[in-house]
Amino acid sequence: MLSKFLFASAATVAALSGLANAQTNITENDCASSSEYSRCNRDVADKWSSCVRNCNGNGNCVVDCGCESHQKYINCMAESCWNQVYSCKYQLFVQQYFAICPSAQEPIPFWPPPDNAPNRCSCDLGKVTQTTLSSRNQQVKCMRAVTDKLTGDIGNIPDLSKLNDGLDIANRASDCACCGASASISASWDICPHTEPTLAGADMWGVFFPSDLPNLYTSLPNWAWSSCDATLQDTNCKDLGFTDTDKFYKPGDFPNNGTSTLYEVGGTVSAPPSGTVLTWSQASATYTVTATGYDRKAVASQSEYRATATGSDETFPVQTSDSGAAALRTGGLGAVVAGIVAVAML
Ligand SMILES: *[C@@H]1O[C@H](CO)[C@@H](O)[C@H](O)[C@H]1NC(C)=O
Ligand SMILES: *[C@@H]1O[C@H](CO)[C@@H](O)[C@H](O)[C@H]1NC(C)=O
Repeated sequence: MLSKFLFASAATVAALSGLANAQTNITENDCASSSEYSRCNRDVADKWSSCVRNCNGNGNCVVDCGCESHQKYINCMAESCWNQVYSCKYQLFVQQYFAICPSAQEPIPFWPPPDNAPNRCSCDLGKVTQTTLSSRNQQVKCMRAVTDKLTGDIGNIPDLSKLNDGLDIANRASDCACCGASASISASWDICPHTEPTLAGADMWGVFFPSDLPNLYTSLPNWAWSSCDATLQDTNCKDLGFTDTDKFYKPGDFPNNGTSTLYEVGGTVSAPPSGTVLTWSQASATYTVTATGYDRKAVASQSEYRATATGSDETFPVQTSDSGAAALRTGGLGAVVAGIVAVAML
């Protein structure tokens, strides 16, 4: 299962090394402590490059480097740019983290932003991403229910496309796929009706679509979102387990597109939102981060009053399943995702 990750080409690894610049895109001058923030980001970028170099072409290792680096960029935010954690750019960064890191899991610090957060993004990208993630999980469950029924029926599923009831399976799999896609895509229009859909994450489903489930999508060779009008007409997605959202627009039946770009609203964040010390975890590490910069003079006079961000566990677990990474598909998230896909496809 891991073999597809073991032979990343030198070119792919080189492309992934370029991702070390994939930080949060927040201008240092907007941060509570610009100099700390630059230093922190530079440090993460350097370590990311050497992490990738040390992988010697092992794609699984390269993916882990990306996960760890994104976590550390989040620490840089908590440490010295906590005043921008509800901004559009931080939301986009967390979206990117979920896209490139198969082991990423909620909760993520400051994400999604609370309702009416100060200096929040005009479109709640966090909520859109969360809806996409939960739609993905629900789609996986929906498909499992199809597989489990089959397993119960025949004990074993060598190749769904060869089964007698292949058509029925294709229909049920297609119901799951259309509901998942609709829940995810509809969220952009529903949560951010005034924002241009592409900016509101309308293309994200292409990145998170769980098309890797064994054999299931071979029974749907021609599945396409644009073919979902009839399916959604006849399917109650809530009954199939898609319970986190209310809107399941059909491809031909969307509300008007918003036209706004992304911008910040609601004032400023004047103190670290999580208090001075933030502790958070992902599967691979627990981090404790101390916020700095909220009293620049005090910070300047206490040279030891410096932010620390330490991983309690330096080793990252080997991904025991390639399902997450293999699910990544090119979408609106740009070169970063394309780079990871290059590894996932090997
Ligand atoms: C940062 O900006 C670049 C250039 O516009 C873009 O390609 C990239 O996706 C952005 N990254 C994030 C996390 O928003
Ligand atoms: C609305 O936005 C979607 C996603 O960007 C796009 O595919 C579609 O063509 C747009 N519709 C109109 C009427 O512009």
